[in-house]
Amino acid sequence: MVVVNTILAFLSVLLYAVPCLSVDSPTLAGPIGPHCTQGTKLVGRGIGSNVTIADVPTYFISPTVAPGEGQPKKVLLFYSDVYGAFHTNNQLLQDYFATQGFYVLGIDYFFGDPIQAHDGEVGWNQAAWFQKSRQQAADALPEWIAAVREQYGSDAKYSAAGYCFGGIYAMQAGASDDFVAAAFAHPADLTENHFNQLKKPLLLSCAETDATFPTTSRNRAADILAKNKARYHLQVFSGTVHGFATRGDPADENALWAMEESRRSIAQWFNRFSK
Ligand SMILES: *[C@@H]1O[C@H](CO)[C@@H](O)[C@H](O)[C@H]1NC(C)=O
Repeated sequence: MVVVNTILAFLSVLLYAVPCLSVDSPTLAGPIGPHCTQGTKLVGRGIGSNVTIADVPTYFISPTVAPGEGQPKKVLLFYSDVYGAFHTNNQLLQDYFATQGFYVLGIDYFFGDPIQAHDGEVGWNQAAWFQKSRQQAADALPEWIAAVREQYGSDAKYSAAGYCFGGIYAMQAGASDDFVAAAFAHPADLTENHFNQLKKPLLLSCAETDATFPTTSRNRAADILAKNKARYHLQVFSGTVHGFATRGDPADENALWAMEESRRSIAQWFNRFSK
């Protein structure tokens, strides 16, 4: 019995000491749910292009404003929701970031198979699609990020914005020395560890009502960040739901304001740390 207790104590110390081993870290943002595919499809078309980086299709747009004198290049890695980087709403969002001086690269970690490719498909296995997509993303991201960094060099300032499905990759960026700042809006699949491991400034752009990242989790996340003396900014938009930052209804004044203010804040946040 003593031996068993000692072993258990040793194991729990190990789990504590090596955060990436603590698979039991409490969940703060839950899995993809029905509201991850609700919202408005925007009208328009992005002006970026489809490039291939490390064998991954990537939505790409250069800054549409001239860089300031002597300013470093600003590169924004865009981690999309389940609709993918080529979805109209996400194209328009990425184009906005280009108007703020960023090179924007949106990885298509769905490899041409985003969730809407299965609209109306009878007997579609969403859980299998989801697992496949997470695996593809995990496999592709390291080389894709390395290729982007090789392209822009070590003097450029890299930031990462993640939405819903992509929130977890923004958190990984924020835990890495390769990035200057990170941001997410209505994230999925986060644990307390993601917040504990954060090294870089984080902007949290949140809906008032979000079953995936509910108020209790949001508050817990803020407590962790404060306790760790992290550099963060938490914004909550009243009258909004999960998806507001990418799929708000432009005909609804409050929804449009929140969607625009979210992206504006994220651009300013990244600008602040990209000097
Ligand atoms: C982007 O280009 C790749 C490679 O040519 C192609 O497979 C993919 O369908 C293209 N994606 C879009 C959205 O055009």
